[in-house]
Amino acid sequence: MSGTGADDTQTALPPLTAIPNDIRSLPDYERRAEAHFPPATWRHIQSGAGPETSLAANRAQFDRYRLVPRMLADMRGATTELEMFGLRHAAPVLLAPVAYHRLAHPHGELAAVSAATALDTTMVVSTLSSIPLEDIAAAARAAATELRMQAPPLWFQLYFQSDRGYTAELVNRAEAAGYQVLVFTVDASVKRSEFALPRGVEAANLQGMPRLSQNADVAGGKIVFGTALLDAAPTWESLAWLRSQTRLPIVVKGLLSPEDARLALEHGADGIIVSNHGGRVLDGLACPLDMLPAMVDAVEDKLPLLLDSGVRHGTDVLKALALGARATLVGRPQLHALAVGGMQGIAHMLHILRAELELAMSHVGCASLAAIEKSILLEQSRG
Ligand code: FNR
Repeated sequence: MSGTGADDTQTALPPLTAIPNDIRSLPDYERRAEAHFPPATWRHIQSGAGPETSLAANRAQFDRYRLVPRMLADMRGATTELEMFGLRHAAPVLLAPVAYHRLAHPHGELAAVSAATALDTTMVVSTLSSIPLEDIAAAARAAATELRMQAPPLWFQLYFQSDRGYTAELVNRAEAAGYQVLVFTVDASVKRSEFALPRGVEAANLQGMPRLSQNADVAGGKIVFGTALLDAAPTWESLAWLRSQTRLPIVVKGLLSPEDARLALEHGADGIIVSNHGGRVLDGLACPLDMLPAMVDAVEDKLPLLLDSGVRHGTDVLKALALGARATLVGRPQLHALAVGGMQGIAHMLHILRAELELAMSHVGCASLAAIEKSILLEQSRG
């Protein structure tokens, strides 16, 4: 896949100034979004690893379950609120960490965090954000002040750097900027990507830090094994080290095995995001929803498990919660909505998802997240 250039950018429509009436769901945003991206960027965002069977399965995993409605429930006082790590969250829907929002819109993460704040939603800011993490936190505070509300908790996603000193620096910067939870992503250390960032988009938090090239040692006869990238990849010991570096809760992102869930608990994790990285890192990986129940059993309620990869509807959120997830995150939909409608687009996308969740909870008679149980699901036989 080739990089993008100025000509490529000209093929993309600018963001709309008003949201069209026919956008009523997250897939509606996705359909519209393609025209708002240069082709190479669109492929980079949308694609999965290899033949994309995991990418397709991430959608199919939700379709295997039907909902069993419950009528005449008393829904007065119903709420989607939840507490995680001692922090109030308005709904079990968060913006997943996604790199380089400026690929979708010139205001990038500033637009995303302002929209998330307005919708009382937590954004997990990526290490690879295209705007410095401090500026994103400041934009969240400014939006909350303008709206006279308390800002929702901000989380920061950490990719380990080649040098522990740089990793510690990122953690310290995130803490100083007011981030309240650290997400340690562990499933993408050896992800391969051919995508070249367009001019003007960069890893704003990593300026001045040495980066290991993904393809550095190929010429020296190494493929994956023995490369600097794999040798520098974090291990369980790195989690223990991270635990010693910060008082913030640590959520490990990218686990799919019950045994790893137990190890995460043992090494000091406070939460887990069950995820196959939206099908991007290795084709053929298990789907999060399939692994979730065994992982919930493995941690015996000592840790909250969150889930992402393929969440597109309020009913997907409900199904994940019924199988034991505490909350869910959406990845690509934020870039779709941002490219189509900027800040308004993301706010509208989050509103749609929250409205769909409330509607679905009403139909299954659950007035709180705690009331959502497995009995609301009917599993279809696997054909
Ligand atoms: C990601 N994801 C990701 N995860 C992470 O921990 N740090 C990151 O910087 C990124 N960057 C990133 C870029 C793009 C373009 C995509 C699509 C995804 C993974 C992300 O957090 C999440 O796990 C998936 O996107 C969830 O799947 P869906 O919602 O996109 O299907």
